[in-house]
Amino acid sequence: MKPRSVKDATADPAYFLEDRMDSSRRSFLNLLLGVTGVGALGSIVYPVLKYLTPPQNAEQSVASVVAATVGELKPNSGKIFKFGNKPGILIMTQNGEYRAFSAICTHLNCTVQYDPEIQQIWCACHNGHFDLFGKNVSGPPPKPLESFDVEMKGENVGDEIVVLRRS
Ligand code: FES
Repeated sequence: MKPRSVKDATADPAYFLEDRMDSSRRSFLNLLLGVTGVGALGSIVYPVLKYLTPPQNAEQSVASVVAATVGELKPNSGKIFKFGNKPGILIMTQNGEYRAFSAICTHLNCTVQYDPEIQQIWCACHNGHFDLFGKNVSGPPPKPLESFDVEMKGENVGDEIVVLRRS
């Protein structure tokens, strides 16, 4: 495009029209870029904030759950159950006694499991061990598992085994 002088520009109405169209096109592109930028920023910031913000602890207040039914566990076995939004572990010892704990390892929050071979609660993440009272006995876990109470709602097969949070 040939450069125009100031005189040409003031005399030529087409120049103004073209200039205004360029200006509005530029404004539109800037607006589009801005909206896209805000959207992209939002799509990054929102999930990060969502991740960093602790969830409402509505389920934290759960005081008891049905963890299993009579007949479900054999002696020397364990079962993971949901206690609100957290895992719990119910164990039936070799002599038929039920015990329940939080299944969240006190080291780095992995979910523990029952190991019938050694009759201990075991955390596979860093080889942490807890005895059948939830006490940390080897590996990196710094403290015992949280203990829960167990209440039998009956002795017959199918009757509920309720686990209660200690107050
Ligand atoms: S998280 Fe359980 S031993 Fe490390």
